[in-house]
Amino acid sequence: MLPTTDFTSTQSYKYLTDHYLDIVTKNLKDLFDADSQRFEKFSLQFEDILVDYSKNRIDDETLALLIQLARECGLNEAIDAMFSGEKINATEGRPVLHVALRNRSNQPVLVDGQDVMPDVNRVLAHMKNFSDKVISGEWKGYTGKAITDVVNIGIGGSDLGPVMVTEALKAYKNHLSLHFVSNVDGTHMAETLKILNPETTLFLVASKTFTTQETMANAHSARNWFINGGGKDEDVAKHFAALSTNSKGVAEFGIDTANMFEFWDWVGGRYSLWSAIGLSISLSIGFENFTELLAGAHAMDEHFKNTEFEENIPAILALIGIWHNNFFEAETQAILPYDQYMHRFAAYFQQGDMESNGKHVDRNGKHVDYQTGPVIWGEPGTNGQHAFYQLIHQGTKLIPCDFIAPAQSHNPLGEHHKMLLSNFFAQTEALMNGKTEDVVIDELKKAGKTEEEIKAIAPFKVFEGNRPTNSILVKKITPRSLGSLIAMYEHKIFVQGIIWNIYSFDQWGVELGKQLAGKILPELKDDAEVTSHDSSTNGLINQYKAWR
Ligand code: F6P
Repeated sequence: MLPTTDFTSTQSYKYLTDHYLDIVTKNLKDLFDADSQRFEKFSLQFEDILVDYSKNRIDDETLALLIQLARECGLNEAIDAMFSGEKINATEGRPVLHVALRNRSNQPVLVDGQDVMPDVNRVLAHMKNFSDKVISGEWKGYTGKAITDVVNIGIGGSDLGPVMVTEALKAYKNHLSLHFVSNVDGTHMAETLKILNPETTLFLVASKTFTTQETMANAHSARNWFINGGGKDEDVAKHFAALSTNSKGVAEFGIDTANMFEFWDWVGGRYSLWSAIGLSISLSIGFENFTELLAGAHAMDEHFKNTEFEENIPAILALIGIWHNNFFEAETQAILPYDQYMHRFAAYFQQGDMESNGKHVDRNGKHVDYQTGPVIWGEPGTNGQHAFYQLIHQGTKLIPCDFIAPAQSHNPLGEHHKMLLSNFFAQTEALMNGKTEDVVIDELKKAGKTEEEIKAIAPFKVFEGNRPTNSILVKKITPRSLGSLIAMYEHKIFVQGIIWNIYSFDQWGVELGKQLAGKILPELKDDAEVTSHDSSTNGLINQYKAWR
């Protein structure tokens, strides 16, 4: 059982409320001037990952109080409950054990008294065998040709993780071409199929439930394309595999269950890239690299489980996030990777974070009267700098940002990486220091402007600064370091959910839209006027019918 403490009723929350009134008057620059050890004090290193959280509006007291808050909210007990397989996803009656999927120590993990590790290892062995055969060309299509293209058909957690990781680790990629189809918009499938040959294409139908409308529609269209392209029903086994918890649904679709890669209901969709859902990753970069990804995540799991909160990276990041979210009233969190390969990282954690912590009912079933999960967004630097950074620097909103960059590039092209990293370092410095009016005036004087011109233009060139950032410097983005980074954010989300007293592992909020779409679909089958909804929805549907 998870604790059900209302964090706003704790002693530490009250102290934090007072302490906030003190901190809010302070400037980051002054905090640095006052403490020459600030970087050493407020940064932590885990393997090849350096996390610098010193450019946040915190001091020793802030962190001590936030850690006290974590303790008062029962974070220690909650961590034990997750790792020991308790049914902490209470609204669905399930344990939360993505950590077991990457449990490289193979210590038993019990669900209802049963060790799940033999099953986890059996599926991993199946994935290795299959990946090795497809990559080596031993696995043949129905005309005897080797596979050249793999299409993952899935959506949400059955798509975003594999897409993000295969992109982030493209430097490790083999000869297979990977494609991902998620949207039920026929354009996604049609455009993907245009360049494919049914004789050499392998489809992975990735769906935890094997009932998701988008995925099933795409899988059926892919199957039709395969049959229309010359394949026979008995050839489907050579070209379709399923990644699912639903063996009945897989068999009904016509996929040989020998080609089914199983996982279990204790794996949440948005935490499933470590499971059979990661088969496209294993096909793209090889099984050895996939296990390195798991090992990196496992190492972070051990750090999270065994480290005091004072030195615990996911816990510290989560608590600083709560400081921004619940005291500074920041509404969003930007994730800004200075690595082109990581261009889907923010999109991945949009689901990871927002589907987990976008909740307004607490674990007592009561409507909360405080803010829960932030809006997550971001794009790779430096592109973001030329798009939305203006608002981060000079807008009216406080936007806490995570800057992530590798020290070593996979593509050391001339001076490019130094240029990229100079921007990475400059941005957090600029956000912290800003530019005072005095400096602006001085610059304008030096540029030969008149008193009048300076007076007119100076206010627009002032940067207030004092804007919070975390800098995450990674030696190199490898399967291991990426695994650790992803697990770090997963645990950050977990910690925040515990403190906000919400259930982070269900997602009832996506159901209503699905239900209503299910009701509307039959209404779109004929041309009869629709009158069953509000006037806006009726009007839109009827105009669609007139125009289609
Ligand atoms: O968006 C809702 C959701 O249930 C996600 O949590 C999940 O990742 C996605 O749909 C796909 O579900 P499935 O893997 O069952 O097709």
